[in-house]
Amino acid sequence: MDKQAITNLLKKMSTKEKIYQLVQLAGGFYSEDEAVVTGPKEKLGISDEAIANVGSILNVRGAEETRALQKNYLAKSDAKIPLLFMADIINGYDTIFPIPLGQGATWNPELIKAAAAVAAEEAAVSGIHVTFSPMVDLVRDPRWGRVMESTGEDTYLNSVYAQSFVEGYQGEMIVGKNVAACVKHFAAYGAPEGGREYNTVDMSERNMREYYLPAYQAALKAGAKMVMTSFNTVDGIPATGNKWLNQDVLRKEWGFEGILISDYAAIKELEDHGIAEDAEQAAKLALEASVDIDMMTSVYAKNLEKIVVKDSEMAKLLDQSVLRILELKNELGLFENPYRGADTEKAKAVILSKDNRKLARKVVSESLVLLKNQEVLPLKSTQKIALIGPYATSPFLSGSWSFSLKTERTVTLEQAFSEVLPAENLLVAPGCLTVEPELIEASFGQYFPAEKTLFDEEGELVKALEAARKSDVVVMAIGEHYLQSGEGGSRGELTLPRVQQKLISAIKALGKPMVGVVFSGRPLELKAELPLFDSLLTVWFPGTEGGHGIADVVFGKVNPSGKLSMSFPYSVGQVPVHYNEFNTGRPLTESGHSKRFTSRYTDMPNKPLFPFGFGLSYTTFSYCDFKLSETQLVPGDKITATVEVTNSGKIAGTETVQLYIRDLVGSIVRPVKELKGFQKIFLQPKETRKVSFEITEEMLRFYTRELTYQSESGEFTVFIGSNSEVAKGINFILCK
Ligand code: BGC
Ligand code: BGC
Repeated sequence: MDKQAITNLLKKMSTKEKIYQLVQLAGGFYSEDEAVVTGPKEKLGISDEAIANVGSILNVRGAEETRALQKNYLAKSDAKIPLLFMADIINGYDTIFPIPLGQGATWNPELIKAAAAVAAEEAAVSGIHVTFSPMVDLVRDPRWGRVMESTGEDTYLNSVYAQSFVEGYQGEMIVGKNVAACVKHFAAYGAPEGGREYNTVDMSERNMREYYLPAYQAALKAGAKMVMTSFNTVDGIPATGNKWLNQDVLRKEWGFEGILISDYAAIKELEDHGIAEDAEQAAKLALEASVDIDMMTSVYAKNLEKIVVKDSEMAKLLDQSVLRILELKNELGLFENPYRGADTEKAKAVILSKDNRKLARKVVSESLVLLKNQEVLPLKSTQKIALIGPYATSPFLSGSWSFSLKTERTVTLEQAFSEVLPAENLLVAPGCLTVEPELIEASFGQYFPAEKTLFDEEGELVKALEAARKSDVVVMAIGEHYLQSGEGGSRGELTLPRVQQKLISAIKALGKPMVGVVFSGRPLELKAELPLFDSLLTVWFPGTEGGHGIADVVFGKVNPSGKLSMSFPYSVGQVPVHYNEFNTGRPLTESGHSKRFTSRYTDMPNKPLFPFGFGLSYTTFSYCDFKLSETQLVPGDKITATVEVTNSGKIAGTETVQLYIRDLVGSIVRPVKELKGFQKIFLQPKETRKVSFEITEEMLRFYTRELTYQSESGEFTVFIGSNSEVAKGINFILCK
């Protein structure tokens, strides 16, 4: 359709038809089974007429199902405007990639783009039109369970990945290959007080603009078609009813013309926040904030009509929202072909294909971060290996947000190890449950896994000890339960579950070399485990090809190269702990005051256990001959920073060379370091490569005292190194 045809269509629509376009319901409402439908329908209090005419549906899966739904819908709906199907394709559709925090550790934007393209194709052939991804919320607090969905704590790195995800999903918007991206959660959802899910977010506008907003903006610059609001407050006003955030910043300042969708039930929650006294006021606040789609409530469906008949300004807003929805449907070609890419045959060929699995395996191996290695890794297939711990055999390797939980398609560690080792060299024993049974019962509710009843605690421990005794080396596959992270997965403690701590101590007492393979949806507190293990590898929730990707690294087929994109705290008491902090007036190391009166803890270090950018390799890299081409920079010109990096070890490996800059004096306080660039290089043993970065005035801009985005003349320090704790820098002056 051309633009005029869309406008004409809008003119012909009744007010009710328009309003229904703004409503999104879950696929369950369209089941054939009356019993499945009635419960949710009553809970939501939504009419059959609304259900028959909604504009979009979320989280249905499969080409057959989406096609059938669309067909039925078009037969029954009045306006016959095709449905949009949206879904949470967070880290893959059926081929599940590592959780985004793991993808963040690859420092490989091209690889992440390729992974997103695979997810998009699997989704597109299944009839999905929009993915609720990327989630680009900046995160500094690992207590929050959703850090797993983010790529980490850094504004620059998150922005780079935001672009990769969007470009991967949307590509050229080819039917059967691409889907539209919905960036979320706008805004600052990643900073809830105390790390507690859905809690208050309160930060200065400066902090938000400087650190939190750029990644959303990067996703939009890359062309993301949609934005999702967040659940939290922003300066006292919930994001979903926040006119300043959505109208002034998102639409007017950034020029976003696409669809803004509420998060799940977030419009209704304006009442619980205490900003709307009833559903009608909630509807009004959300529409005024230009929220186009009401996800999973009846607030718009039941209240907008009253509002728009009274108020012509609101009627205009309604029209604008409908137009945005129709435009996306048109852009996707749904008016010509409402089934778009949905194709059962193609789905069979594409989903979980050999190539997709191969890529997933590669992403896994690049996402692993080697935290410690006292030369136990890599292992050899000639060694007798005891694979112990709850993740030894678990197929729950995909994290809580994977769209598909096809555990039978997931490669477990046991499976992958058995492909490498002769049978007599592999001894497997889980040894304990993932978490203590009381915890499962208390906090996981409906997700209560069956493992509890099947377990003989003492017997399993005996088997694990036996296996360890017979082995040359123990690999302990440990970590938090996958339901301890993700949405609603906040934790007050970041340690390993107690049952696993007990298992580790029991095995440690045998004195065998121990390798820890740690699964998690967040940075865990590992200070107690660090001295117990000879080698420690953090593997996130790695997804479908988890076992293979981990085995590739453990047995040295792949040399690990992952680097943390989020600090691992020494203790939860330091949280939030992030590399780009302020110096304070009394920095620990440079202050003239006695140590007592400096910015520090009396009972623990200031530094995290493992800093941002950190990750080891089976080889070593040395940095030398670091220099700047000039000592002065003028706008429009550039300085080149160079360093020579040598693989000083015995095997080939990949290093991520990181560029950080510090602005020494500003009109507002500037961080001690900010990531400004990185390059991932592969070096043969003894090979040296000159790595250079260009530094321009644009890279030095920030929100100044007046909240204008610009650079300020003065002195800067440049650092190049292998993680954020690189200490030696060189200065230059910016002259404007
Ligand atoms: C989450 C979103 C998600 C939505 C739809 C919400 O609970 O916060 O991230 O996209 O549900 O499933
Ligand atoms: C303390 C103040 C105190 C001042 C003079 C400072 O170190 O922060 O509270 O009044 O010393 O003793």
